[in-house]
This record gives sequence, structure tokens and C-alpha cells, in this order.
Amino acid sequence: MEKSKSITTVKVDLGPKSYPIHIGANILPGLGDYVKRLGVGSRIMVVTNPTVGALYGRQVSDSLEAAGFETIVAEVPDGEKYKSLESAALLYDTAFTGGLDRSNAVLALGGGVIGDLAGFIAATYMRGVPFIQVPTTLLAQVDSSVGGKVAVNHPRGKNIIGAFYQPRMVFSDINTLYTLEDRQFRAGMAEVIKYGIIRDRDFFTFLEREAPAVRQLHIGTVIRVVETSCRIKAEIVAEDETEQGIRAILNLGHTFGHAYEALTGYSEFVHGEAVAIGMVSAARAAVKTGLLPEPDLARIERLIATYGLPCGFGNLDIAEIIESMYHDKKAVGGKVRYVLPETIGRAAIVPEISHEILKNVLQGQQNQV
Ligand code: NAD
Ligand code: GLY
Repeated sequence: MEKSKSITTVKVDLGPKSYPIHIGANILPGLGDYVKRLGVGSRIMVVTNPTVGALYGRQVSDSLEAAGFETIVAEVPDGEKYKSLESAALLYDTAFTGGLDRSNAVLALGGGVIGDLAGFIAATYMRGVPFIQVPTTLLAQVDSSVGGKVAVNHPRGKNIIGAFYQPRMVFSDINTLYTLEDRQFRAGMAEVIKYGIIRDRDFFTFLEREAPAVRQLHIGTVIRVVETSCRIKAEIVAEDETEQGIRAILNLGHTFGHAYEALTGYSEFVHGEAVAIGMVSAARAAVKTGLLPEPDLARIERLIATYGLPCGFGNLDIAEIIESMYHDKKAVGGKVRYVLPETIGRAAIVPEISHEILKNVLQGQQNQV
């Protein structure tokens, strides 16, 4: 990890596709100079939404223009439902009429919705143009902007149409998190806690100890949170870019979580909340299968609650949850693969969990908050 005066850089090591993740506080005014170093063409399409555009669009355009770039700003309405092929079609039109050529970059300014959609455009417009991520939610800074998964949704499921397409740079200004709703910040913390559980026991302990500073957005502490999360994700992605094996541990809590999101029509839980509940499900199943010691489960549940995240899924039907998991896109050949923690700091991919154990675990979380 390289440190300069105010920017910390984590590298994602992928040979010729390697790229830096720059992290710092109040660094957006310097964005243009960092983009210039990438050697991309002089026109940039900034994809954002009205919420983020109103907050940071001008700052980003000014910085890019001061560095000699021409900007085309394309706004997509705010919301997951606009991560769609229809939005993609409109963005292709904007790119084409704006004269975007193969050397010009697409820049995502926003959370994971904008990052996934803009990345999908960058991957497919003229068979691929340079892509830059400027994530503005905690979830996007610690997870979705890193690792190259880009996608749009299909009426039959989330993220069904997509690609692995790595950005040329990720540029995370921690100060953007001050305008984020607290609920969205907490949701991002679910993915952060996930990294501690799957890879780094010391980081988990840090999150326990520093919870008040993190929740009050203490700058130095939040930078360490984003930097450590990105380092862990970068290591895993470098080992297995296209999820042939180990990258699947990043899905801890997601198989259960997707079921909770889908069965509530994507309206009750934001993604990170569903992942938090799913991590509790996975940890409880791990205890019941003899993988995880009870005291580790207690620490996981306590930390999730400390960050204001839910541990239970209300009154969803247990048979429907199990059924929904078998339809998850990550199920292979009719089998669900689960990621279960073995200890805090290490996770395993297990081929199946018996229905008995699943039912037992889910009954414990029904009507729990
Ligand atoms: P989001 O992009 O919908 O952002 C949440 C809300 O915060 C939106 O209303 C947005 O306009 C607003 N917002 C963004 N930045 C803000 C800021 N700085 N200040 C104020 N408001 C701000 O949600 P998200 O949680 O960032 O991302 C969720 C998406 O990410 C989902 O589509 C999910 O599938 C995807 N995802 C992708 C990956 C991946 O690896 N590609 C990983 C995890 C999640
Ligand atoms: N968010 C899971 C992954 O990037 O693989």
C-alpha cells in the first residue's frame, strides 16, 4: 500500500489490467489530474443521477475541465430500477451523439447502481472503452467499485446481464460520505464486517473497538475502514478475477440475503441490511454444522447489531426462503453453494446444508429484529 500526503493507494494486481484505488478526504478537486495520468482521450462521459449530480457533479466537471477534458454529463434517474437495459440504451445514444470514441472514458459518479450501469456501458460501447469509478456510497467504495463486476438487471433477476470489466482507476473521496443517509452508511458497513469475518480477524477486532469513531464518521478511522476493505477485496480479486473459486467467499451472507430481498420485493431491506441478516444465517448454520465456535457467532451478531443492522427477517415464510435460494443465480446445477465462516477471519465454501439445519436456523431468525 502506497501513501502520499493525503491519498492512500491500494493496487488491484491483475497484470496488464492492474489499477489503483485512490482513497482520501476532500480529494475530488484533484480528480482531473489523476484522470490525466491514465492517458485516456480528451472527452469523458460522466454518468450520475440527479441526487449525486446535484451534490458533486459540478466539482467533478470543474476538475476534469481544469485538467483539459471536455465532459458530457448523462443523468439517469435515482434508483435500482433504472439499472436496466432501457437506461443503457439511452446512455448509448448520449455517448454516440456526444461523439464519444474508443479512447474516451466513461466515468461513474455515484453509488453501486450508477457504478454497475456505467461499467456495463463502458464494457459494451464500441466493444469497450476506458472506465473510471468515482464511488460516493460506502458500499460502492468498499465493494462494488472494486473487482470489475458490471451489470444491469433483467425483469427475471438482479445483475443477470453483465460482464467482468475492470476500471482503469477507482477514486474514493471519503468526504462524500457526509451527505449519505445514515441507513445507507450502515448498509455499507455490512460489507465491511463481511471482510473481517472472511479474511481478517484483527480488522474485525478493530471494527469492534472503533465502532463509535466509525459511526461518527471520524475521517482517519473511515479511511482505514475503506482502505482495509479494498485491500482485502483486491487480494481476493487478484487471486480469482472471474469467480472460479475463492472469490465466492465475497458472497458470505448473499445467498440468504438475496432471498430476503427478493421475497420482500426489494422494498423492505436495502442490500447491505439483507446481507447482514444473511451473515447471521450463515454464521448460525456454521455453528450447527460444527464449523464455527459459539463465541465467534456471539461476536458476529453483536457487531452487526452495534452497527445498527438487523439480525432477523420478520415474518417471511421459511419454505419460500429455501425455495428462493435454489433459484439464486449462484446455484449451480440445482445445488446451492454456501459460504460459511469457520472462525472470525476465515470462511469456507460448502456444497450443501441439510434442510433440517436450514429450517432450524431460519426459525430462529423469524420475527427477530
Ligand atoms: P445506490 O447506488 O442506490 O445508492 C444509494 C442511495 O444513495 C441512492 O439514492 C443514491 O442516489 C444516494 N447517494 C449516493 N451517493 C450519495 C452521497 N454521497 N450523498 C447522498 N446520497 C448519495 O446503492 P448502493 O448501495 O451504493 O449500491 C447498490 C447497488 O450495488 C446494487 O445495484 C447492487 O447490485 C450493486 N452491487 C454491485 C457489486 C459489484 O461487485 N459490482 C457489489 C455489491 C453491490
Ligand atoms: N460483490 C461480490 C464480488 O465482487 O465478487
